[in-house]
Amino acid sequence: MAPQGPIAASVGRERSPEVGAERCSASDRPRPRRSSVQDDREGEPSATPPLPVADTPSFKVRPARFDDLPGIVALQRAVIAEGTWFIAEPDELGNPDEDMRARLTMARAGRGLVLVAESTAGRMVLRGPPRAPLGWIVVDVGQYRRTRHVGRLEVMVASRARGAGVGRALVEAAMAACASIGVTRLTLAVYAHNTRARALYAALGFVEEGQRVGEYRMPDGAFVDDILMALQVGQGSLR
Ligand SMILES: CC(C)(COP(=O)(O)OP(=O)(O)OC[C@H]1O[C@@H](n2cnc3c(N)ncnc32)[C@H](O)[C@@H]1OP(=O)(O)O)[C@@H](O)C(=O)NCCC(=O)NCCS
Repeated sequence: MAPQGPIAASVGRERSPEVGAERCSASDRPRPRRSSVQDDREGEPSATPPLPVADTPSFKVRPARFDDLPGIVALQRAVIAEGTWFIAEPDELGNPDEDMRARLTMARAGRGLVLVAESTAGRMVLRGPPRAPLGWIVVDVGQYRRTRHVGRLEVMVASRARGAGVGRALVEAAMAACASIGVTRLTLAVYAHNTRARALYAALGFVEEGQRVGEYRMPDGAFVDDILMALQVGQGSLR
C-alpha cells in the first residue's frame, strides 16, 4: 500500500533532491532533542532498560511495541513498493509480519533495537493501521559470540515524511541506545545511488569501508554497486 494520507504540516518542509544533494551536513532546521523520557510500554515487561527517546515538537522516537507491528510492516511494504531503495521486490518479501515480530522479540529481550518515529501532531502519514509510524529503525545484533558487538542497521521513513529530520532522529536514537545492547559497531549496506541515505550516514560519522561492484541488477538491467558503511560507536577508530 502506498502512503497516501497527509502528513502533519509541522513535521517538516519538503526538500527537493536538487537542494538536498548540495548540502550534506549543515541544516537550518532544529535538531531533534534527546531526552531521557521513559517509553510508554505499559504492561509489557522487557529485559531492556529504558532507551533514550528523541523528541521534536512534531514527532518522537520511541521503542516499538508489539501493537506497532501492523504499522511497521505497512510502512515496510510501502517503501519496498517504491522499488528504489531495497533489494527485495514486493513479491519476494516472504512473511514480513513474522520476520518483524521475531526482530522485535529479540529487541525486547535486549538483543537488538526496534524504534519507531511517530507523529505527535495527531495526524497519520499512512492510511490503514492505526498509529502507523512516520519511520522505523531496526538494529539486528550479531548472533555469534564473535559478532555480538555488531549491530546491522536498517531504516526507513515514509515518503511524505522524508527530508524533515525523521531519519536523522531515528539513527541518532539508535546510536545512543547501542551501549544498552552491547553494540560497539554499527554496519549497513546501501545502494550507491541512494545519495540521501549515504549523506545521512556520513553526516552522523559513518565511514565507507567497502564497495561491492555490480552487486545488484535492477529491473531495467542496470548494475548497481553496494556501499558498505560502518560506525564505531563510542570507541573511536579500530585502526
Ligand atoms: C534515507 C532516509 C532514511 C533518510 O531519512 P530522512 O528523514 O529523509 O532524512 P533527514 O530529513 O533526517 O535528513 C538527514 C540527512 O540526510 C541528508 N538528506 C536529506 N534529504 C536529502 C536529499 N534530498 N538529498 C540528499 N541528502 C539529503 C542530509 O545529509 C541530511 O542531513 P541534515 O540533517 O544535516 O540536513 C529516508 O529518506 C528513507 O527512508 N528513504 C527510503 C528508504 C531508504 O533509503 N532507507 C535506507 C536504506 S540503506
